[in-house]
Amino acid sequence: MKKAAIGIVGLGVMGQSLALNMERNGFPVVGLDLDKEKVEKFLSDKASGKQVFVVDTPQALMDALEKPRRILLMVPAGKPVDDAINGLKGFMEAGDILIDGGNSFFLDTERRSKALAEEGLNFVGMGVSGGEEGALWGPSMMPGGQEAAWTALRPILEAMAAKAADGQPCVTHIGPRGAGHYVKMVHNGIEYADMQLIAEIYDLLHRGLGMSNSELHQLFSEWNQGMLQSYLVEITADIFEKKDPESGQALVDLILDEAQQKGTGKWTSQNALDIGAPIPTINAAVESRILSGLKAERVAASKVISGPSPRYSGSEREKLIAAAQDALLASKITSYAQGLGLLRIASQEYDYQLNMKEIAKIWRAGCIIRARLLGDIMDAYERNPKLVNLLLDDNFRTTVERKQDAWRLVLTTGIELGIPMLATASALAYFDAYRSERLPANLTQAQRDYFGAHTYRRVDREGSFHTEWVK
Ligand code: 6PG
Repeated sequence: MKKAAIGIVGLGVMGQSLALNMERNGFPVVGLDLDKEKVEKFLSDKASGKQVFVVDTPQALMDALEKPRRILLMVPAGKPVDDAINGLKGFMEAGDILIDGGNSFFLDTERRSKALAEEGLNFVGMGVSGGEEGALWGPSMMPGGQEAAWTALRPILEAMAAKAADGQPCVTHIGPRGAGHYVKMVHNGIEYADMQLIAEIYDLLHRGLGMSNSELHQLFSEWNQGMLQSYLVEITADIFEKKDPESGQALVDLILDEAQQKGTGKWTSQNALDIGAPIPTINAAVESRILSGLKAERVAASKVISGPSPRYSGSEREKLIAAAQDALLASKITSYAQGLGLLRIASQEYDYQLNMKEIAKIWRAGCIIRARLLGDIMDAYERNPKLVNLLLDDNFRTTVERKQDAWRLVLTTGIELGIPMLATASALAYFDAYRSERLPANLTQAQRDYFGAHTYRRVDREGSFHTEWVK
């Protein structure tokens, strides 16, 4: 019997979709999943007549695979990954490759990679983005791990990956050990920021300017034809059109305003704090989800704390709508500058040897943050592979400079109306801080020295100084 090219452990929604994608691209797949009912349904339904078969023991999985064996784990992050590895590794041989395609924490991947390397096994922590549809028709994939493992996986991954407009597959070898999961984590942080920036602009346009859902549908559809073209803007336009089948009302108005999270955005913030990378817009997006979760408290507070009416009554409605587009773009560019800045610092910290151009390149299609902007980001890193900050690229700098007045107008309006714009405001503050030769940290240093003799450095001479501040 012909051996399978790849095995998949865990035939949930994502595992099934990836299996069908691989099979469609000419790679026979063998699956292993203990849920017999789910497997039967898959085999008789979606996988019927396809080169997809299923076994029920690790040994049978190994026997069914070409060597070196390639086995993709599609199980929930955390303990299930360790359990799956422990259940399989005794049946594997040196040179075989285990791939973790879940949203695992990169330090777990570092640990697993090291432990398995000691046993001669290759371990690939691979970020997979694009949801169920992406998994089936073309995800963006971020594999880390050994070069040899990448060489063995490359034909399969390139065939199944999303293709950008220039036909290039959205997958590349990200770097060693946990690099793939690290980059996927930052992808998700940027995803949180993109989503929150869109939500804040929606709030200003809807609650502030009183735009209806059908006007918003129209507006976001128009925006999706220009510089803001992206998957998230596109689905946002769609969302405004969707009606609740029972009541006929706009579904978006009936959805509870409490954003949930599985934790990848939070990990991005936590790690950025650990390695000293400023990403205030991603942090603001994480915080905004947390704040939204305090629904009961907010409801109570809304009854006792007063502020301005959120409804705009000025005469510049049209100007503000146009400015909102510019503000969203300026914030988005600044947020990407932060996320990519985090990757640059992390690359040094963990010796990941990240190639920013390649990362932008594989985010152009398939993943949740896919956007026209990513093609421009790729070009910026092509022009200057050592670019320290996206805002220093001439094209991006001039774009943001030109949008600056609109950006400030949107934020001052939000502030006047009492509409919270944590992420948008943090993006502008980052921009202003980054372009400031002098920040008030001189005062912070003076305070530290005052109360704790922590010392300070001076602008006019070398050395470390302490002052007796109390007269
Ligand atoms: C992707 C998504 C995917 C998932 C997130 C959602 O790239 O396909 O990022 O990984 O949708 O886990 O994360 P939250 O539940 O934290 O919003």
